[in-house]
Amino acid sequence: MLVSALPSLLLLLLLSFTVRTWTSRPARVYLSYKELMESRTARFFSFGFNTSDYRILFLDQDQDRMYVGSRDYLVSMDLGNINREPLIIHWPAAPSRQKECLMAGRGRADECANYLRVIQPLNRTHLYACGTGAYQPQCTLIYRGWRSEDYVFRIISGSHESGKGRCPYDPKQENMATIIDGVLYAGVQVDYMGTDSAVFRTMGHKLPIRTEQYDSRWLNDPVFVGSLVVSESSFKEDDKLYILFRERSLEGESGPAMVSRIARICLNDEGGMRSLVGKWTSFLKARLVCSVIGPDGVETSFDQLRDIFIQQTQDKQNPLIYGVFTTLGSVFRGSAVCVFSLADVRAVFNGPFAHKEGHGYQMTAYTGKTPYPRPGAVRYVTTV
Ligand SMILES: *[C@@H]1O[C@H](CO)[C@@H](O)[C@H](O)[C@H]1NC(C)=O
Ligand SMILES: *[C@@H]1O[C@H](CO)[C@@H](O)[C@H](O)[C@H]1NC(C)=O
Repeated sequence: MLVSALPSLLLLLLLSFTVRTWTSRPARVYLSYKELMESRTARFFSFGFNTSDYRILFLDQDQDRMYVGSRDYLVSMDLGNINREPLIIHWPAAPSRQKECLMAGRGRADECANYLRVIQPLNRTHLYACGTGAYQPQCTLIYRGWRSEDYVFRIISGSHESGKGRCPYDPKQENMATIIDGVLYAGVQVDYMGTDSAVFRTMGHKLPIRTEQYDSRWLNDPVFVGSLVVSESSFKEDDKLYILFRERSLEGESGPAMVSRIARICLNDEGGMRSLVGKWTSFLKARLVCSVIGPDGVETSFDQLRDIFIQQTQDKQNPLIYGVFTTLGSVFRGSAVCVFSLADVRAVFNGPFAHKEGHGYQMTAYTGKTPYPRPGAVRYVTTV
C-alpha cells in the first residue's frame, strides 16, 4: 500500500544556474601549484607517512579544528595553522582481516585497507568514526577532549563495533552519514557485494529503520552525495532529514539513464506495522532537475548530481542547496551549478504525487484521492 504510494515527484524548479562549459575553457578553475602558492592564500601541509585517499574533511568550528580521514589515518588539524603539530590516529585494519581480504581476491586496487568514510561529532567530547576495514566496515569512538587546548585525540579502547549499515565495504562506493542527537543516519551499501543500498538509521535511543530492501522504487543503485537536517517548525517532532543522491532512472527508454534526487525522512519516524516494521513510513523522493535551454532552443540536461553545498539563509527553515551536476551523455560533456531553495523543494513534497500506471514505463501524475495520513507526513507518536 504504502510503497505504491511512493512518489517520484518532478522537481522543476530552477532558480538560477550558471553553465560554464559553453566556452572551450575547462569547467573547473585551474590553478597550478606555483600560482596557488603565489596567491598567498594556501598553506602547504604534508603528511610524513604512507597514506592516500583523503576523503573526509570535517570542519569542527567549536574546537577550531579540521578532521581529515584517509587510508588508515585520522588527523586533527589546527584550523589557525595546519602545520602546528597535527594530532594523528593510525587505525589500520587488523592484519588477519587484511590477509582474508587479499585471499578473497579484493586487493587489486589497494582495497584491503581501512578507508575512513565517516567522521562525525557524537557529543562535546567524542567523535564517531568508521572505515571500510578491509571489506569489513568498523566503527569506533574517539576522544577529542573538551577544548582544543586539551590536545587529545585517541581511540577509546574497547569501543570498536561493526560498521555494517553505517559505512560501505568497498572504498570506491560513495556514502553519506550524519549523526543527529546521537543517532546515525547513513546512505550506504549494506552488504559485501554492494547490491543492497539503503538509507539506514542506527545507534542511540531510536529503533533501527531502513528503506525497503531490493526495491528499485525506493532506491535504484543510488550514489549518495550528501544530506541536510532542517527544523521545519518550532516543534522538534517536525525535524526532517533531506538526502541527496543520484540513481538509475526507472523511466526506461523515454528518460535519462540516471536522475538526481532529493529524498526526505522524518527524524521521529518509528517505522511501519506488519511488513513495514523497521521500514521508513515517511520516505519520499523527488527529482532534481538541472537543465538549460540553449539559444537554439535545445535543452541540455545535467542529470548527475556530484556534490552539494548548503548555504544557510536568515530563514533557518529555508536554506539554499547548491548542486554541482554533470551531463550523462558522451556527446556533450559539461557541468553546471543549480541552486534550489528548500521552500520550493518543500512545496514539491507537499504537491501531487507521481505513480506508474499499469506496466508502462512512464511516471504520471496520481489523480486519485490522496490517502490519509498523507504519505510522507510526520506522525506524532503518542504514548498511552
Ligand atoms: C604504502 O601503502 C601501500 C598500500 O598499502 C603499499 O602497497 C606500499 O607498498 C606502501 N609503500 C611504502 C613505501 O610503504
Ligand atoms: C559522549 O559520548 C560518550 C560515548 O557515549 C560518553 O562516554 C561521554 O560521556 C559523552 N560525553 C558527554 C560530554 O556527554
